[in-house]
Amino acid sequence: MSNTCVEYKLLGKTKEQIPVLGIGTWNMLSDKGDTEAIRAAVEYGMTLVDTAEMYGNEDIVGKAIRGLDVFIATKVSPHNFRYEDVIKACNASLQRLGTKQIDLYQLHWPNHSVPIAETMRAMEWLKNDGKIRHIGVSNFDINEFEGAQASLKNSEIVSNQVEYSMLVRDVENGLLDYCGKNRVTLMAYSPLAHGSLYTEKYKELRGLLSSIGLRHKKSITQVALNWLISKEPVVCIPKASDKEHVIEDAGASGWSMSPAELSEISSFLPGVRKRPLVPSAFAPLVKHSGFWSKHLQSRNAKRRPA
Ligand SMILES: NC(=O)c1ccc[n+]([C@@H]2O[C@H](COP(=O)([O-])OP(=O)(O)OC[C@H]3O[C@@H](n4cnc5c(N)ncnc54)[C@H](OP(=O)(O)O)[C@@H]3O)[C@@H](O)[C@H]2O)c1
Repeated sequence: MSNTCVEYKLLGKTKEQIPVLGIGTWNMLSDKGDTEAIRAAVEYGMTLVDTAEMYGNEDIVGKAIRGLDVFIATKVSPHNFRYEDVIKACNASLQRLGTKQIDLYQLHWPNHSVPIAETMRAMEWLKNDGKIRHIGVSNFDINEFEGAQASLKNSEIVSNQVEYSMLVRDVENGLLDYCGKNRVTLMAYSPLAHGSLYTEKYKELRGLLSSIGLRHKKSITQVALNWLISKEPVVCIPKASDKEHVIEDAGASGWSMSPAELSEISSFLPGVRKRPLVPSAFAPLVKHSGFWSKHLQSRNAKRRPA
């Protein structure tokens, strides 16, 4: 069914290939437009579809992908990290998605108030039971990742979904190399910096991307995404509700820049964020409880148009 040639990479240490570009669905809350965008993404080869129970849209995503051959990734919220709660949350996600199995089940954020061994025991049970195929994490730093991995008996964590774009480069402080060396897929979220790339502030950067893009007949968005997926462990999941954006994003794969072009882009913005992996000023607080995720999840459920 696929229209373009989005390339593939191995998922973690598995022998399974996943597309280097998937579709993110945060804020996709409309049945019609967003369904079309998700279906277009799959049609154009972005068959990795990422959602989360926290997004309040698993049912919309489930309907959109019905009958399509996709790799479905979702996440359990930190307030559900107790053993029984992980199992319950997974069953609820399966039901909303309308599927018997989740391809990648991720811990959305660390929650230090629940022993990670308890959470990972539940994740491993789900995997052994066939409800999920692979275990992933999100927003985990190296220590948190290693703690989670050490709690698993017979499974490998295949991926860590973290914020990474030209404008937010915290992962270059060590996590990117760690993932490369340990064969963990780094799934880059907010790869277009939530759209900030298109603001006045980054006009000069866009000038550079545009001049490089001209040589390859590619747009600035395609150059920005290609720069990310050129890094060995990285796949990325831009969100686009506009179908034309989706089609453009899919064209970020299937070609490559020269090493000189890639490093010209990397060194263009010396002032970009490169501090330890903390995607927001609240992250240290966020990692110590699940309270906020419960609140956010119920708020998202109420944001659905009537
Ligand atoms: N694990 C986590 O904690 C976490 C946190 C945040 C995000 N995520 C995941 O990552 C996904 C993507 O991140 P994000 O939604 O924050 O931001 P993003 O993908 O960096 O940016 C999305 C914005 O870029 C625009 N866009 C996309 N393609 C474009 C194009 N070709 N030309 C112009 N504009 C374009 C979109 O517009 P339109 O929608 O109008 O097309 C939207 O406004 C999320 O949906 C979610 O799945 C995960």
